[in-house]
Amino acid sequence: MKKLIAGNWKMNGSLSANAALVQALLDDTSDWACDVAVCVPPVYLAQVQSLVQGSVLGLGAQDLSTQEAGAFTGEVSAAMLKDFGVRYCIVGHSERRQYHQESDATVALKAQRALAAGITPIVCVGETLAQREAGLTEEVVKRQLAAVVHTNGHCISEIVLAYEPVWAIGTGKTASPQEAQQVHHVLRSQLQAASQHADRVRILYGGSMNASNAAALLAQPDIDGGLIGGAALQAAAFLSIVAAAH
Ligand code: 13P
Repeated sequence: MKKLIAGNWKMNGSLSANAALVQALLDDTSDWACDVAVCVPPVYLAQVQSLVQGSVLGLGAQDLSTQEAGAFTGEVSAAMLKDFGVRYCIVGHSERRQYHQESDATVALKAQRALAAGITPIVCVGETLAQREAGLTEEVVKRQLAAVVHTNGHCISEIVLAYEPVWAIGTGKTASPQEAQQVHHVLRSQLQAASQHADRVRILYGGSMNASNAAALLAQPDIDGGLIGGAALQAAAFLSIVAAAH
């Protein structure tokens, strides 16, 4: 399966920094053996859309509303994202679950909204350090995925899934390739029980993935790409991860 490397810029960027970063990525596209996307803050969608137009670099967003339209101040709908050529949208990132109290049901609904608009949701699951230490990792990620499966039924094969252990995000601590593979395998089995097309679902790893650990993680049988935070803000670092994905 073709791997996917997606950059999550989080709340970073500026018009000038984005232009330089995207240009450096576009200069490298002829070497890519995987799909590549950047998930940018909503105010920069128009800018990045015009920069990536006609290229293989995909455009992504970081969140969307559970609602279709109307009196929801500050929210951005799936249809609006679609208007700007958005191909992927992260949903249920741990930072949204933690700082915006997003529940499993909310995340599932957001995935449904994205799918209905023809946008591929990148659904994030992952345990906290306390949950890992209590031996709850599998239970937590299975519960998070189950909500999305329950709400989206057979469409589940259209999502991208991302395993992001919360303790590995922005900390420089990565799950070992074996630790990550073990959880990816659990998630794959759960998808297989839900859909006969589960084998085409890309399961990304996220959490301090960088130029030096990417190859070993991406070599695991159930790791089909990466969701990259910090390292996605520097073209050279991001492109080394892209080069490791084939
Ligand atoms: P870092 O790569 O900075 O650890 O962030 C990972 C992440 O949260 C991607 O969504």
